[in-house]
Amino acid sequence: MAGIVIVGAQWGDEGKGKVIDLLAENADMVIRFQGGNNAGHTIVRGDVHWKFHLIPSGILYPGKLCAIGNGVVIDPKVLTDELDGLRAKGVDLSGLRISANAHLIMPYHMYLDHAGETKLGKLQIGTTRRGIGPAYADKAARLGIRVQDLLDEKILKKKIVAAMEPKRLQLRPYAKAPELDLQSMTEDYLTYGHRIAQYVADTARLTWDVLDSGKNVLFEGAQGTLLDIDHGTYPFVTSSNPVSASACTGTGVGPKDIDEIWGIAKAYATRVGSGPFPTELDDELGATLREAGGEYGTTTGRARRVGWVDLVALRYAARINSLTHLAITKLDVLTGLGPLNVCTRYRGAEEATFDNYPYHQTVMHHASGDYEQLPGWDEDITGARTEEELPQNARDYLKFISDFVGVPIALIGVGPGRDQVIWTDAGRATYAARTEGVTA
Ligand code: IMP
Repeated sequence: MAGIVIVGAQWGDEGKGKVIDLLAENADMVIRFQGGNNAGHTIVRGDVHWKFHLIPSGILYPGKLCAIGNGVVIDPKVLTDELDGLRAKGVDLSGLRISANAHLIMPYHMYLDHAGETKLGKLQIGTTRRGIGPAYADKAARLGIRVQDLLDEKILKKKIVAAMEPKRLQLRPYAKAPELDLQSMTEDYLTYGHRIAQYVADTARLTWDVLDSGKNVLFEGAQGTLLDIDHGTYPFVTSSNPVSASACTGTGVGPKDIDEIWGIAKAYATRVGSGPFPTELDDELGATLREAGGEYGTTTGRARRVGWVDLVALRYAARINSLTHLAITKLDVLTGLGPLNVCTRYRGAEEATFDNYPYHQTVMHHASGDYEQLPGWDEDITGARTEEELPQNARDYLKFISDFVGVPIALIGVGPGRDQVIWTDAGRATYAARTEGVTA
């Protein structure tokens, strides 16, 4: 039995999609456990760039069980559009399963997300405006509408009325929006229900069945640890728990079902939206790094903020997720950048320093990186497939990260292509050796 959780160890956009795509080859099931279409994975297969927002990218393996777990919030319009797009490209969707208990993003959630951000003005979070926060808020308020509700007109209508009632005042400016008309909203959502009905399932039971028969399940996280609503840079966070513990609640398994936890981190750092980012580079070097790494959002197209790798935050992520493995992505982006800074502690206001990730919002707000400088490299590493083929400085850089964080590196990304990865001994020994077909 092997349950393997994949989480983002930074602020999201770490390149989880590619790692999941690689590991999914030998998994029997992939299940997403939180977030919604605020996430976006890009998978490169040959010349084709595939963009995923809701459906696990494992769907590209014909017949592979790919589930959207109960912890995900689903915008059914985005889901059905994604299904249409994949179908048009001839992708086999027979393995798709959607939790009947997953909550839905409704049109009013998107309006509320917009309205909330606008009202915050300069203090805004910089959400993706996809309605994620308001949908999770309704879930907690027990006013959420779930996938199973789409299959019953009477229940659906009753629940929409109940959910919209307390929001009347906030929604008043949008009173004439056609999407908010009760009748047409109900009809639209019934149609979505009809279109996804064949995929709706008890995904928890399915996951147990796969695990109990000794097979591999990949639990796919979205966003990243520092965007976690409990453990991230609150309030500049998303509204779910992207940490590994959430793989349990978001799918319906217990902690004993998890065997490995892989944290994915870029060789540098990025963040989208507002909030503290101690290692941020808002200078020319940052602009160079942004261009070299193509750091623009898959979901929103927004330019990402970029910075040096933050090992204080990464060590925190290792602890909070119980990481067993690290995957370091986009190492090639650092090529030719000159000496590389790694943040090993924070400097706060009034000469204070912090070796550990501070819990206090004000401290984080004033924190800036305190760095050790490591030599960079100029050699093209995009063709490297073993650690030995990397320049010594690149190997030393990776070793510094792994030693500081206390987690072995299993996989190193050296380019966007599927084959542009290096499996380390740790990666091979713990995952690949247990399954067949994953080689350097
Ligand atoms: P929300 O998830 O749309 O509510 O946005 C809350 C915060 O999380 C914002 O700062 C977003 O930019 C950020 N965020 C949400 N999803 C992602 C993601 O997939 N990658 C990176 N940042 C994200």
